[in-house]
Amino acid sequence: MKNILITGGAGFIGSHVVRLFVNKYPDYHIYNLDALTYAGNLANLDDIKDKSNYTFVKGDINDAAFLTDLFAQHRFDGVIHLAAESHVDRSITNPLAFVMTNVIGTVNLLNAAKQQWKDELDKHLFYHVSTDEVYGSLHNPEDFFLETTPYDPQSPYSASKASSDHFVRAYRNTYKMRTVISNCSNNYGPNQFPEKLLPLMIHNIQKNKPLPVYGKGENVRDWLFVIDHARAIDMVYHEGKDGETYNIGGFNEWKNIDIVHLLCRVMDKKLGRAEGESAKLITFVKDRAGHDLRYAIDATKIMNELGWKPSLQFEEGMEKTVDWYLSNNDWLENITSGVYQSYYEKQYAER
Ligand code: NAD
Ligand code: DAU
Repeated sequence: MKNILITGGAGFIGSHVVRLFVNKYPDYHIYNLDALTYAGNLANLDDIKDKSNYTFVKGDINDAAFLTDLFAQHRFDGVIHLAAESHVDRSITNPLAFVMTNVIGTVNLLNAAKQQWKDELDKHLFYHVSTDEVYGSLHNPEDFFLETTPYDPQSPYSASKASSDHFVRAYRNTYKMRTVISNCSNNYGPNQFPEKLLPLMIHNIQKNKPLPVYGKGENVRDWLFVIDHARAIDMVYHEGKDGETYNIGGFNEWKNIDIVHLLCRVMDKKLGRAEGESAKLITFVKDRAGHDLRYAIDATKIMNELGWKPSLQFEEGMEKTVDWYLSNNDWLENITSGVYQSYYEKQYAER
């Protein structure tokens, strides 16, 4: 039995990764370490919580002493690190929280792994799941982010993720730890916290509330179904080469305003509304400070070297996502009552 530590497994992407590993690898024991911040939700993993090869551990990667204890109790064969503060808007109002978890928390985890693996650092893998935002913002429509694109983070969130990527590489260079990093574009799908564009819009359409599009809606993102990201993480963990970086993306670029219109059309159909009804809710609001114009990933390397490719067409993924939110209304209601309400009111009152 191999013990794998997955951090951030109660969040959006982490929960899909944990599910995939628990179901696909009965000879792995998956430890899901998560602090259960506002973004962590054990309801995301209800279907696998009683599996014998799964253990949830509540804990904070900012707490170095806690990590030392955890690594004293279990020997881990590998670490897949997803725990992070993940929302750009929150990083603009509270950058320090992003430095703490994304930078210090990552270094704490690297230290705990280094200490445990000290005599056999070449036998274990530390995998950091990162973002395309570390590369900055594209302005020329013909450009794409490659693994060799220099880092140029523009928001406190992306600066913190870039910093943690640098620490991971520094631990490989300095201590000879085996590491891999992947940088992925925007994920969408079931279980995404409704502070992010698509679930926020789905929720607001249901409630007939304004759909706040930042600026003119001209910013471009590349969208990938979360389960395709989880499949890529599985491949990178098992087949990725030591010290390498893999870009992951959907070759699926959309302007924000166009994706919101597409979502409105899907929602009109699903809710039995007249065509164009939901789009009437679109409201242009004050832009995000320092808003990156365009992200676009060139995922050729992972496709050629590891044989990964996205499995879903975007329209199909979008329908699946909308269907999931509409049939999991309790999940959404539980999250959007209470603390979310005050976050939402503060965030959007200022726009
Ligand atoms: P999320 O916000 O949904 O989940 C983050 C999880 O980390 C939560 O369960 C939270 O409780 C946990 N966490 C936060 N701080 C912690 C701490 N101090 N200690 C332990 N656990 C803590 O995030 P997500 O969207 O699922 O992103 C997961 C990872 O993937 C992040 O590292 C993010 O940077 C990266 N990423 C996300 C996307 C995307 O589109 N969402 C794209 C590329 C990369
Ligand atoms: O590119 C990968 C990144 O994608 C991840 O690393 C981040 O963790 C993840 O949050 C996401 O970052 P974005 O900032 O691109 O995602 P978000 O859903 O916040 O916004 C997507 C786009 O939509 C962005 O251009 C801002 C815009 N937007 C967002 C919200 C929440 C709006 O126009 N209105 C909104 O209400």
